[in-house]
Amino acid sequence: MLMQESVADREIFSRLAIQPPDALLGLIGLYRADRRPGKIDLGVGVFRDDAGRTPVMRAVKAGEAKLLRDQESKSYLGAEGDIRFVELLAEVAFGAGADRPVGIQTPGGTGALRLGAELIARSRPDATVWIGTPTWPNHAPIFREAGMMTRTHRFYDVASAAIDFDGMIEDLREAKAGDVLLLHGCCHNPTGADLNSAQWQEIGLLCARRALVPFIDLAYQGLGDALEADAAGMRGLLDMLPEALVAYSCDKNFGLYRERVGALWVQSGAAELVRSNMLALARSLWSMPPDHGAAVTRLVLEDDALRADWVSELDAMRARINELRSVLAASHPRLAAIGDQRGMFALLPLTPEAVDALRRDHGIYMAGNGRINIAGLTLETVPAFVAALASYL
Ligand code: LMR
Repeated sequence: MLMQESVADREIFSRLAIQPPDALLGLIGLYRADRRPGKIDLGVGVFRDDAGRTPVMRAVKAGEAKLLRDQESKSYLGAEGDIRFVELLAEVAFGAGADRPVGIQTPGGTGALRLGAELIARSRPDATVWIGTPTWPNHAPIFREAGMMTRTHRFYDVASAAIDFDGMIEDLREAKAGDVLLLHGCCHNPTGADLNSAQWQEIGLLCARRALVPFIDLAYQGLGDALEADAAGMRGLLDMLPEALVAYSCDKNFGLYRERVGALWVQSGAAELVRSNMLALARSLWSMPPDHGAAVTRLVLEDDALRADWVSELDAMRARINELRSVLAASHPRLAAIGDQRGMFALLPLTPEAVDALRRDHGIYMAGNGRINIAGLTLETVPAFVAALASYL
């Protein structure tokens, strides 16, 4: 006898549950709908200039003009994307003349993280990915959707506005050989608190001793201290270990956000094996990465004048952020640590209620955990911002 099935059971999507909308991306719409003239957008992580714009960088505009003029075909390139782009970006990430891990182009840093997650899951499905708290809210879902287990370790203590390095090392005692340690290469999102060179060294020793594999998310190179300095911790770690993964994003340092430009590199003794699996996975995930942004990045990096202009504009973006950091740090004792931290973000010691009240009563938009995008401020708006904030600190 046939079982009675309800219509709802027969429908293919009936077993899905409604998912909460992405809180960070949701801020974009909320801010746009707010009609108050003095509103301040410190939400999603995009660079803003003094006028609150997120401009297309000069060198990128010039690269795009060149691409439009000279591109003769849009025929397929293959799952690896633009090979010359990957080579030139590797010089930026790993240094000229350095040994290069195997790498392919990916759709943004998220694509790189997902591809790395799929690669690990394919080979070591029982590995756990260790993720510091707090972190970018998309990190854990990326690994979980690839079928991996995740666990958290302490990273940043909001009350003391400092990295809890002892807590991190203590929590990692439970990591087992072959587990993966997710690290932020620089400009930690959401805290701005970066590991110092002694801490990078200690993590390298820990990974070597315990056979942990670091997976470094490098999404803000050049927005902390300088292009080279921002990669130094990661480079040192790669020198100490046989295996590591690096997810790179050009969203912020080339201002290419929606073009989705990134790369995944994997350091491994089994380079050919890894490469063939990266290509097979990429083919099934997105077939080939989008070309435009990567082609433009290649044109910028292979032209000395455009490259120099990109570096100088990136320097100016960083200088703007770091000036705002100094001003914020001097404006209130509870903000003092912001002066020593780096990158676009700072994590304020605010309750969710305070974050809501700042939005409701003052038109100040930030992530629910109290993360602010410092680039959303200007020297003119800092006093009003700090005045509104002060009663909640
Ligand atoms: C952010 O953290 O605001 C950015 O990385 C944007 C994103 O994709 O979440």
